[in-house]
Amino acid sequence: SISDNTTILVLGASGDLAYKKTFPALFGLLKHQFLPHNVQIVGYARSKMEKEQFRERVTSKIKTSSEADKALVGKFKDMLHYVDGQYDKDESYKNLALEVEKLEQGTGKKNRLFYMALPPSVFIPVAKGLRENLYSTTGWNRVVVEKPFGKDLQSSNELGEALARFWKEEEIYRIDHYLGKEMVKNLIVLRFANVFLGSIWNRQFISNVQITFKEPFGTEGRGGYFDEFGIIRDVMQNHLLQVLTIVAMEKPVSLNAEDVRDEKVRVLKYINPLTVDDVLVGQYVKSADGTKPGYKDDKTVPPDSLCPTFAAAVFWINNDRWDGVPFILKCGKALNEAKVEIRIQFNDVAGNTLFPEIARNELVIRVQPDEAVYMKFMNKEPGLNSDPVISELELNYTKRYQSSRIPEAYEALILDVLRGDHQNFVRSDELEVAWKIFTPLLHQLEKQKVRPVPYEYGSRGPEELNDFVEMHGFARSNLP
Ligand code: BG6
Repeated sequence: SISDNTTILVLGASGDLAYKKTFPALFGLLKHQFLPHNVQIVGYARSKMEKEQFRERVTSKIKTSSEADKALVGKFKDMLHYVDGQYDKDESYKNLALEVEKLEQGTGKKNRLFYMALPPSVFIPVAKGLRENLYSTTGWNRVVVEKPFGKDLQSSNELGEALARFWKEEEIYRIDHYLGKEMVKNLIVLRFANVFLGSIWNRQFISNVQITFKEPFGTEGRGGYFDEFGIIRDVMQNHLLQVLTIVAMEKPVSLNAEDVRDEKVRVLKYINPLTVDDVLVGQYVKSADGTKPGYKDDKTVPPDSLCPTFAAAVFWINNDRWDGVPFILKCGKALNEAKVEIRIQFNDVAGNTLFPEIARNELVIRVQPDEAVYMKFMNKEPGLNSDPVISELELNYTKRYQSSRIPEAYEALILDVLRGDHQNFVRSDELEVAWKIFTPLLHQLEKQKVRPVPYEYGSRGPEELNDFVEMHGFARSNLP
């Protein structure tokens, strides 16, 4: 109701994630009128800082394109507050609770959203401190947590159990920001609202699926942090596996969060755990021209690091729909371009006696940049011949939806939290199956000290990649 009050408390408010993603997303929601009435945003961190200083820092990261935006930044500033304190001291939370109560207006319920933009080391004491001192008894309480959710099955379960001592599953929102991306959200529409796609979405028509994540920059400055995790934990176990799950799951009974997540868990259970034989790992070295550093040139990275900055892996889903269809996931840093896409390659035309030179059909769903959906298909080359030529049926977002804005993933997800919708968040059992798929592989890589193959900064990845994808059924088109 209009007299309710909502406090958005950002823990870890002076960290990178908060400045780069959380606060700009909150500003985006304000701008597009998606923030509730009577809302205040409270930053909390260890650093001592005046409120004004905090307001300046937060808003300096916000891009404004018009005078109206600039005026809105002024309004946003007024909503921002800051409290400093420790993460492990009860009295810090008592003080925080007093400050929050002073700010709360309105006569209705007091809703509280706790956004933990924090390193895992302080995660549990914060979850405890908040639950014991800031839990609202009149409105809702929702806690948003960010990865890493552990490093393997065991550590993830331990973290989960510790968190469950203080918070109920329905109060927890585990963020995987890929679930907030427009094109990832579109998958469910493409699959279940189109008969021409829905009916061929299976092993009978699909040869293989590739999900690719490419970044054109290295770990630049965060090598020390990255080295503890590697690309498999940083991107593949969460972002790419989530995409795979939505591509592969059965149709949920409804779009209700639990119905959707039930299907996601179910399909994950059909996947074989990975072993070292299912992957190719790489690590980038200096660029060909010598201007870009190799991963190990980063001073914060151990000189003998075996940490993968590139990985390709093949997944098999043992159910009626997908038996025998390889899902190839590839991700890498310091590559030749920025791109995230899903490429569904269809089977060869059966009994093809008419056209010796044709390529397979492919459906490409480009997640970023330049959102697009296109189908590669054979068409007669116009003119006085009858040669088939590869052409595209293409939906390009900037052309087709000129008046629509594509929201930032974090805006979409924070809005979901404000609405209490869990569909785009990771449930605890889902997290557990995801770790079951990756844990044997991660342990093998570490125990056997598997050496990643080198690839140059700015290249397309390790040279071994072509053989890897071809071995797993991907047919490279020999046509122009
Ligand atoms: C993060 C990873 O989760 O996702 C980063 O930790 C990665 O290493 C980032 O760069 C990619 O997100 P996006 O939205 O830029 O594709």
